[in-house]
Amino acid sequence: MPMLELNAYAKLNLTLDVLHKREDGYHDLRMVMQSVDLTDTITLETGEANGLTVCTNVNFLPNDERNLAAAAALRFREATGKGADGLAISIRKRIPVCAGMGGGSSDAAAVLRGLNTLTGVGLPPKRLAEVGGLVGSDVPYCVIGGTALAEGRGEILTPLPPLPDCRIVICKPKFFISTPELFSRINCARIRCRPDTAGVIAALEAGDLNGVARRLYNVFEDVLPARYAAEIAEIKDVLIHSGALGAAMSGTGPTVFGLFETESCAEAAYAALAGTYQDVFLTRPVSNEIMPV
Ligand code: C5P
Repeated sequence: MPMLELNAYAKLNLTLDVLHKREDGYHDLRMVMQSVDLTDTITLETGEANGLTVCTNVNFLPNDERNLAAAAALRFREATGKGADGLAISIRKRIPVCAGMGGGSSDAAAVLRGLNTLTGVGLPPKRLAEVGGLVGSDVPYCVIGGTALAEGRGEILTPLPPLPDCRIVICKPKFFISTPELFSRINCARIRCRPDTAGVIAALEAGDLNGVARRLYNVFEDVLPARYAAEIAEIKDVLIHSGALGAAMSGTGPTVFGLFETESCAEAAYAALAGTYQDVFLTRPVSNEIMPV
């Protein structure tokens, strides 16, 4: 029975800007995205049986089309006529769920990459990313991975030079923020502070880690309910006091991360946060090798 195991990488937003609300209800965004080596493991197995099954090691995740991994297999079949029948998807989750790290989107992207190989269809990355866009706004980026500028709904992608090697400490507090709710708190005309996206891109081009870290910025941090904002600020303080070059919230949160030049500072931050928080990770950036474009 043909079988394939793939890594699904977590993503972080080095920057996140919301430009305006569109007629279709979505928002035009501008985000610098980065993959990190915190992964879910996706196993795809094709057999004789009909139907599509999903199983995970997390009992609260749906095992039908509401799971983005299953939705991805169905969209792949619609696009190519192949792949979903008799497919068993198994997901070993390590990326925290509903965290702003694109875990579900990354699982979906891994299913698309995997089916593209297993079926021998071999869609080009751009087309595969387009199919991903039918599953969710962050899926196109996750198909390609690495360091990239994502614009539009998230589907207009420009690969960027890789983030210089560093340590990234990630901490997810326990509270949950709904993505649509946080979008509804944004009034694009009233955003006073925006990320210096061009400055981040220039720093990436110069291989300047410090230049990137100083410019980490997410406009959603400015519209968080006060009780959440306080906890995000506390985590950022711990990261910065441990020696992070910069820190920010990822996506619609609540995950916070800091970029470190040295292992020792990153380990100090990890130790300081791991006493209080369950979901703390010491990671490194992953470059565009996920799916070369
Ligand atoms: O596309 P996805 O299902 O991931 O989006 C979840 C929600 O996030 C949307 O229903 C919408 O409220 C919001 N969103 C948005 N603009 C985007 C991406 C997401 O308003 N570009």
